[in-house]
Amino acid sequence: MIKKIFISALLCCTFLTANADEGMWLPNLIGSRIKDMRAKGFRLKAEDIYSINKASLKDAVVQFGGGCTGEFLSGEGLLLTNHHCGYGSIQRLSSVEHDYLTHGYWAMSKEEELPVPGLTVSLLVRMEDVTERLAKGEKAEDIIAEAKKGEGYRASIEQMYYGNQQFLFVYQTYRDVRFVGAPPSSIGKFGGDTDNWVWPRHTGDFSIFRVYADENNNPADYSKDNKPYQPKRHFTISTKGVDEGDFTMIYGFPGNTQEYVTADAVEYVAKVSDPMKIALRTQRLEIIEAAQAESAEVRIAFAAVHAGIANAWKKWQGEVMGLNRLGTVEKKRAYEESFAAWAKTKPEYANLLDDMHKAYEEVIPGYYMRELYSESIATIDAYSFARSLWTAVTRAEKEGKTYDVEKAHQNFLKTYNQNIDQAIARRMVVEFCERVAPERMPADLKVQINYYGGVEKYVDALFRSSRLLGKEPITVSDVRGDAMTEFVRMFNTIRNDALNYSYRNLSNVPAVEKYYRPYMRALREWDKERAFYPDANFTLRVAYGTVAGYEYADAEYHHPVSTIDGIIAKDDPNIYDYNIPQSLRDIYATKDYGRWGQTINGRYSVPVCFLATNHTSGGNSGSPVINGKGELIGINFDRTWRSTMSDIEFDPTICRNISVDIRYVLFVIDRIGGASYLFDEMNLK
Ligand code: ARG
Ligand code: GLU
Repeated sequence: MIKKIFISALLCCTFLTANADEGMWLPNLIGSRIKDMRAKGFRLKAEDIYSINKASLKDAVVQFGGGCTGEFLSGEGLLLTNHHCGYGSIQRLSSVEHDYLTHGYWAMSKEEELPVPGLTVSLLVRMEDVTERLAKGEKAEDIIAEAKKGEGYRASIEQMYYGNQQFLFVYQTYRDVRFVGAPPSSIGKFGGDTDNWVWPRHTGDFSIFRVYADENNNPADYSKDNKPYQPKRHFTISTKGVDEGDFTMIYGFPGNTQEYVTADAVEYVAKVSDPMKIALRTQRLEIIEAAQAESAEVRIAFAAVHAGIANAWKKWQGEVMGLNRLGTVEKKRAYEESFAAWAKTKPEYANLLDDMHKAYEEVIPGYYMRELYSESIATIDAYSFARSLWTAVTRAEKEGKTYDVEKAHQNFLKTYNQNIDQAIARRMVVEFCERVAPERMPADLKVQINYYGGVEKYVDALFRSSRLLGKEPITVSDVRGDAMTEFVRMFNTIRNDALNYSYRNLSNVPAVEKYYRPYMRALREWDKERAFYPDANFTLRVAYGTVAGYEYADAEYHHPVSTIDGIIAKDDPNIYDYNIPQSLRDIYATKDYGRWGQTINGRYSVPVCFLATNHTSGGNSGSPVINGKGELIGINFDRTWRSTMSDIEFDPTICRNISVDIRYVLFVIDRIGGASYLFDEMNLK
């Protein structure tokens, strides 16, 4: 007994104190961290990071599109983000004659900047803790309505610590955003999916845009009369470089972490959810890769699909590995045991963990079903197409309108690859049937499978007989009677149930989440030493740490800085992901690096990427990496896959974010893009 208490006390201290460099802090509360930041090398004050009274670094940081971060480089709205964040926009602007993705693009004047319809950039005007206002009876709608008074303003109230605190966020959204330039994919996406989440890394993952505004500097729809937006603040760029041990700070919009969930939730991720999703995606990737290996056309057509599947697939593998390596489930169980001992005498908390445990047991089957459905059946293109047709037809009928099914059909066929889809469908239906709880198995599906004598035979018959997949024109009555529509109907119940579980994480399903509010409150009362920070939720955060390598295992040390020597070592004209532009080879051959050359690890080279200990997550892509003086030294774009468990538990010894060195960005703009005129409007130091 004594031993047990001792062990939990020990665990309590190692697990609970926010480890050095762990944390994503709210910028308006950064004052509480400033001492620690200064000890690590930060030279500025809290109000330089966030202030509502004067320009601060926050005014130089934006949310780019739906899920990335960007930063201003000039007083004329010049904006930097990742290549993979600009990818969709660049793709939309590209055509066969103007393939900006492959060859890159540089506007040589403002007239050559290309408007991107639909692309928006949001600036945080201010944030405010409104917990008390709400507690005093003010209505959320009223607070939001009042906050929205401003040109292009939007506002929302976001929950911190599962609703123990509520923050108002007011943004101004700019709608005229133009593409200025990007390197060719052979630089911007160098290493492709092979190097994704991997260190050493050599990706020049950046692209440049410009924000435009009306004559009052306010948001406006695209117009040729709009003027470059003048940000209150833009970054000074340091060309002095980074060294191991230097302070770094990341300012951006991380999307989703769950640092405070109980062992049950971690176990679900590590033992149930991630393994299922990984297994299903492995099969889809194998099918796509086999087809890609056979045909260059398929390789290109499925490049984005493949990247999308592989990105999370690789991340989840790192997450499972990391959680197992750290023993997070066991640690959390021990932590909960000591919490329970403390809570025993407190009526409002005494039953919490038991209640949560029961709630998880009730919620997991439904949540798992939603995840299984969306990773299997919902990935079948024919299924999604038939479902969208059926939905459109039904809706049109209700409204007394007609829906042009043949137009949708023709459109679908343009990019449809039946061989790949049918192979995927076979595997996905098999997997679904094997993993679904027997009582949730759709009865009609079972009947069909028995009738045809096996899942694969049924799926083949389904694809053979569906008129929706053939070239012959189709009518509304074809849609109604089609076997694929029948297949869609089989999943009606499952799809409707899934809607009840469409929450960010298992722990956000209301039946579970309601216990987290008191649990978080209790944790903060009990665990006084722990430095709490709210989970990521796409709101603006500050993370800080240092440039650092890591030792993953005995004698396996990773240096924190990569150079173009590493690019040249990987260069291979026969491998798509490693085929660099000839101009880069030429520069390397002469070692004529100009002002960008320097001696790194004893070699004269150009820095490319670097590692640091900042706690980041998805959404931090494109975030400015800032030195102790508040100057820009890089752009965050990835973590190592071995770090990705930091969404649940951060390990300071191995968790590393990956950034492009700003000097490589400048080198590429200058020497590969020939666009150094852009430097005229930047502050290079
Ligand atoms: N892993 C990074 C992120 O999560 C980069 C993804 C894009 N790059 C790629 N090669 N797929 O977004
Ligand atoms: N590439 C990720 C993004 O797009 C960042 C990587 C991560 O830390 O998850 O936000």
